[in-house]
Amino acid sequence: MNIRDLPGVGDKIAEKLEEAGYTDVMAIAVTPVYKLVEDTGVGEATAKKIIQAARSSLKMGFMSGTELLERRKEIGYITTGSKELDRLLGGRGVETQAITEAFGEFGSGKTQLGLQLSVNVQLPEEEGGLEGYAVWIDTENTFRPRRIAMMAKAVGLDPEEALSRIRVARAFSSDHQILLAEKIPELIEREGIPVKLVVVDSLTGLFRAEYIGRGTLADRQQKLNAHLHTLQRIADRFNLAVFVTNQVMARPDIFFGDPTKAVGGHVLAHAATYRVYLRKGREDKRIARLVDSPCLPEGEVVFRITDDGIRD
Ligand SMILES: Nc1ncnc2c1ncn2[C@@H]1O[C@H](COP(=O)(O)OP(=O)(O)OP(=O)(O)O)[C@@H](O)[C@H]1O
Ligand SMILES: [Mg+2]
Repeated sequence: MNIRDLPGVGDKIAEKLEEAGYTDVMAIAVTPVYKLVEDTGVGEATAKKIIQAARSSLKMGFMSGTELLERRKEIGYITTGSKELDRLLGGRGVETQAITEAFGEFGSGKTQLGLQLSVNVQLPEEEGGLEGYAVWIDTENTFRPRRIAMMAKAVGLDPEEALSRIRVARAFSSDHQILLAEKIPELIEREGIPVKLVVVDSLTGLFRAEYIGRGTLADRQQKLNAHLHTLQRIADRFNLAVFVTNQVMARPDIFFGDPTKAVGGHVLAHAATYRVYLRKGREDKRIARLVDSPCLPEGEVVFRITDDGIRD
């Protein structure tokens, strides 16, 4: 079904929708009214009408448990490179249709894990990948091509090919970061790139830097919340995995309360499906703990960061 087939969508509105990246009915159906208004400039009543039409045309609404089970069968997995860490995440690594968040202090391995997943997503399924591409939204200039090459070589991929299957964009502000995420559907649909992993490193860095002081905290949380919902919608729509990082400070003298309470607070706690708290162990060892998982028991595992990448 074409968006022009929706009742109430004439050429003019169709143009506005397409310009803003709403090129198919599903994209419209899963968008909140305020977002469609913001993105396309159509009036609220019109947006409501279009979204409702899109929803009913797709027969969205309540799914039976059986249907949900079917949808879950489509879920793909990307191995982290460590069997132990995969086990912590339910057995096979990071899931598609979900957001996985790694949080922890500097050097705890958040970026390394993101880099490793960007390599592993390219592997065939029997080796723990999805034969897909990765998109990397870089907010702190931490993407390292040389490190990717090392990790690729170690799993038997051609380093240059591996690098060509990762699209990197540097975000210069939180608004830019939000925009980049919103552009991902275009990359997949217009350019036909089979993206199976989206990494945002770091999810919260720019938000934290830009919104200082309590006065704007609510504002920041609201924006971060919307950004996370954009990411979740992309994960659902394209059956891909989203991996985000979040730095926390473990120094009690500058950070009051529980260090495992990450920046973003409740917003992130509810939006991320899997939250992994990372901390440094001895030498190359890192300890991972799963927090607030909907279906898995909380537990701790140890993995290592080696020259080859993430390993047991
Ligand atoms: N080639 C390598 N071989 C072995 N270990 C490495 C290698 N490259 C990086 N590391 C390890 O990874 C650590 C850095 O981890 P990473 O950059 O993922 O931290 P992070 O959690 O992203 O930190 P930040 O919050 O500062 O971004 C280094 O301290 C080092 O121990
Ligand atoms: Mg990092």
